Amino acid sequence: METISRSSRLDFKDIVVSTGSKVLLKNVSGSASSGDLLAIMGPTGAGKTTLLSVLAGRISYDSGTINLNGSPLDKAQRRRLGYVLQDDIFLSNLTLWETLYFTAMTRIPDKVPKQEKIEKIHRIVDSLGLKKCLHTAIGDIFNRGLSGGEKKRANIGCELLADPDILLIDEPTSGLDSNTAHSLMIQLKNYATEYNKTIVATIHQPSSQIFHMFSTLLLLVDGEMAYFGRASMVIDHFARLGIVCSQHYNPADFLLEVLKTDAPSNQTDGDPRKIQSLQEKCMPNDQMNAFTISESKREGQTETGDVELVLVRPLHDHSLKDWSCTFEGETNRRWPTSFWTQFKMLNWRSYKQSKGRIFHKFDLIQSACIASFASVLYFQIDNSVKTVRDRMGLVSMSLIYWSFQICITTILGFTGERAVVSKDRAAGAYRLSAYYFAKITSEMPLLLSIPFLFNSAVYWLAGLGGVGGYFAYLGIGTLNCLLIQSLAHILGVLIRDVKLSMMTGNVIILGGLMLGGFLNINPPKWLQWAKYFVLIHYPYSATMTCILKDAADVWCNQTSVDVFSQCGMNTSAILTSRDILLGIGVELPIYCYIMTIVFLLLIFYVLGYYSLKLKRA
Ligand SMILES: Nc1ncnc2c1ncn2[C@@H]1O[C@H](COP(=O)(O)OP(=O)(O)OP(=O)(O)O)[C@@H](O)[C@H]1O
Ligand SMILES: [Mg+2]
Repeated sequence: METISRSSRLDFKDIVVSTGSKVLLKNVSGSASSGDLLAIMGPTGAGKTTLLSVLAGRISYDSGTINLNGSPLDKAQRRRLGYVLQDDIFLSNLTLWETLYFTAMTRIPDKVPKQEKIEKIHRIVDSLGLKKCLHTAIGDIFNRGLSGGEKKRANIGCELLADPDILLIDEPTSGLDSNTAHSLMIQLKNYATEYNKTIVATIHQPSSQIFHMFSTLLLLVDGEMAYFGRASMVIDHFARLGIVCSQHYNPADFLLEVLKTDAPSNQTDGDPRKIQSLQEKCMPNDQMNAFTISESKREGQTETGDVELVLVRPLHDHSLKDWSCTFEGETNRRWPTSFWTQFKMLNWRSYKQSKGRIFHKFDLIQSACIASFASVLYFQIDNSVKTVRDRMGLVSMSLIYWSFQICITTILGFTGERAVVSKDRAAGAYRLSAYYFAKITSEMPLLLSIPFLFNSAVYWLAGLGGVGGYFAYLGIGTLNCLLIQSLAHILGVLIRDVKLSMMTGNVIILGGLMLGGFLNINPPKWLQWAKYFVLIHYPYSATMTCILKDAADVWCNQTSVDVFSQCGMNTSAILTSRDILLGIGVELPIYCYIMTIVFLLLIFYVLGYYSLKLKRA
C-alpha cells in the first residue's frame, strides 16, 4: 500500500546554525533525490542531528536555503517528510501494536480501509523484525518494555506507516547488532529504490556492507562539510589528497579516523593541518549551485590545483513543474485524517496511557484510607446547627483533597506526554484542537470515577442529607474536579518545569484554603474580598448551601458556635438556614456559585487551548 512517490529532490545550501557564540553548522550544502540513500557521517558532535533537525524543520537556521524541487520547503511540504529522532519518544504505557495502530489510524488517510492499514502494520512489523515484541509495552525507565533496538525500529516503523516521500533518520543502526543493522539498512535501501523515496540518514560507524549501500555521502566535522558526493568515490577522493585507505579496511572507519583532526590515524598520512585544509577544499565552490548540479562529476580546482572536489548529484528525469503541480494538489489536504478520526484515536490513546497513572492502586488505597478516616470521624453526624463547623471541615477537606490529587495527576500526565505531542505535531499528525478535546474527555471518566466513589461513600456514611442532596453534592464535587483539571492543564502547559508547575498549583490551592476562610473565622476585614478570588470558595459555598439549606430554624441560645453575628447578645433570636449560611460566609444563592464555576471552567478550557497553541505543543 506504500505509494510510489513522484521524483523529488531535496537541496540544502549554505546552512548556518548557531546558538549564542557557538556555530553548530557552517555553510553546509548537499542534496538528495528520490531513490537515494544519503548518509551523513562524522564524529560525535559534528552536527549530524542538528542538520537533520534543520531539514525536518524542528530547529531554525540562521542562513541558507532548503528547497524541495526548486521551491523553498514550507510547512505544508514538510508534511511529506518523516523524521525519526535519535531518541525514542513514545507513550510508555502503550504496547508496540497500540502505538503502530494509533499511527496508522491517524496518519494514513481515512479513505484507506482499516483492514489495509492493519495489513500495512503487519508488513512493516515483519520487515523490521518486531513480531515477537508486538504486544510488549513500550516501557520507560520505571517499567521495562521494548529494548533500545526494538524502540529504534518501532520509531522507524511509525514513520514508514505515514509513508513519507523523504525520510530523515537519525542513527537508525545505533544500538542494533550488526545483523539487525544490516537487514534494517537493506529494508531502508529497498524502500528508497522500490518506492522512489529519499532517505537521509545519519550513521555512526557503519559496517563496510552498509557503507556500500549509500548512494551519497555527506561528511561533517565540527559543523563543517568535509565531503559531499557519491559514496563510492569518497575513498578515491581522499586518495587523491594523499590520504590512502588500506585495502580490507572498513571505509567508514577510515573516514571517521581521517575526520578526527585531533587524533590522526595511522591509516592516513594525517596531518591535522592538512585535514583542516581538506575540509576547506571540500566546501562547494561558488559556482556550485545545489539546484543545477548535473549528472557529471564536478571538479572544483583548489588554488594549488591538486584537489578534486567531488560534488556529484544525479539529477533524476523529472520535471519540476510537473511535480510541484501534483504536490500542491496533495498538500491542500492539510491533515491526513478528519477531526473526528483524530479525536477518536487520541481519546483511545490517551485513555490507554492515562488509566495506569490515574487508576494506580496506591491512589485507590490512599482515597479509601481517607474516606475511611472521614467516615469514622463524621459518622452519621448530627444534622444540627452545633455541627455546622464539623460539616464545614468535612466539605473543605474533601474539596481540598481532590483539588491536590487532580492537580498533580493532570500536571504529571501532561508533562509525561509533552514530548510525544510535540513530535506528533511537528510531523503534522493531528490538529491541536483534536488533541486538546481528546485529552480533556479521555481523562474525565478516569479522573472523576474515584472522586465519585469517595464522595458517595463520605456523603452516605457521614449522613449529609437525602437523595436530592446526594446528586447535588456529587455534581458540585465533579465541577470542582473539572475546574482544577482545567487549571492544571494550563499550569502544565505553560510551566515546563514540572516541579514549578506543581508548586504553583499547591500555592493556588493552599493559598485558597487560607484566604477562603476555611481555617479562620476572623480574617482581617480588609482581606475579606479575597475569598472571591479563591477557586474553592465557589464549590465550597455551593456544597454548604446544599447541605444546610433545609436546616431547621434554631434559637441563638441553642448554638454553640460563635460565628453567628446575627445573634449578638440576643439569645432569644432565631437563626434561619439563610442566617446560618451567612454566618459561615455563604452570601449568594447557590445558582450564582454554580454559574461562576461553569463560567470559570469555560474560560480555563479556552485558556488551556491557547496556552497549548502558544507553547506549540
Ligand atoms: N542548544 C545547544 N546549545 C549549545 N550547543 C549545542 C546545542 N545543541 C547542540 N549543541 C552542540 O552542537 C554540536 C552538534 O550536536 P549534534 O547533536 O548535531 O551532534 P551529532 O553529530 O548528532 O553527535 P552524535 O553523533 O553524538 O549524535 C554538539 O557539540 C552539541 O553539544
Ligand atoms: Mg546525533
